[in-house]
Amino acid sequence: MISGRGSNMSALIEAVEATDFPAQIVGVISNKPDATGLETAKNHGLNTAVHALKSYADKTTTDRAITANLEQWGAEIVCLAGFMRIVSDEFAKHWQGRLINIHPSLLPKYKGLNTHQRALDAGDKVHGATVHHVVPELDAGPVIVQQEVPILPDDNVETLENRVLQAEHLLYPAALAKLIRTH
Ligand code: GRF
Repeated sequence: MISGRGSNMSALIEAVEATDFPAQIVGVISNKPDATGLETAKNHGLNTAVHALKSYADKTTTDRAITANLEQWGAEIVCLAGFMRIVSDEFAKHWQGRLINIHPSLLPKYKGLNTHQRALDAGDKVHGATVHHVVPELDAGPVIVQQEVPILPDDNVETLENRVLQAEHLLYPAALAKLIRTH
């Protein structure tokens, strides 16, 4: 599930296409109709769907429609990949154990937004990314894998974000494969 450019989604697509990966992708859902990742998904021949909050009465109803869509596609695991909306508690509970997210920090540090700026402001020497299970509380579910990334003296938000993103693109397929193998 994406909201924007979908570079982590692309990393998952490439992992599935390139290697003997233990999963297939049944489809990509966006909450934004103009997410550029939707085009990428279509170019790879994947099912896509848009479920925007404003098309439904409320978040719970939206997320029920998403669950119905995912189940119709036969999804067994749901990967949030830059899905920039907090899912409903009901959705998190329905998929618990099968719903994962990638977050650009070494959780439990820097839950929420602006993680790179916050790591720089704190004078951290090490930053990173985490793939974790999604639970109703934001960015608080059990960690599956983490990758540390150094913060260099001349870093700004952009250079740091790019370095973390490169790590994310390796980390997410590895985390998904690990979850499947240990399931
Ligand atoms: C990534 O940094 C991810 O960790 C965060 O949102 C960003 C999404 O980027 N949750 P992309 O859409 O995968 O390129």
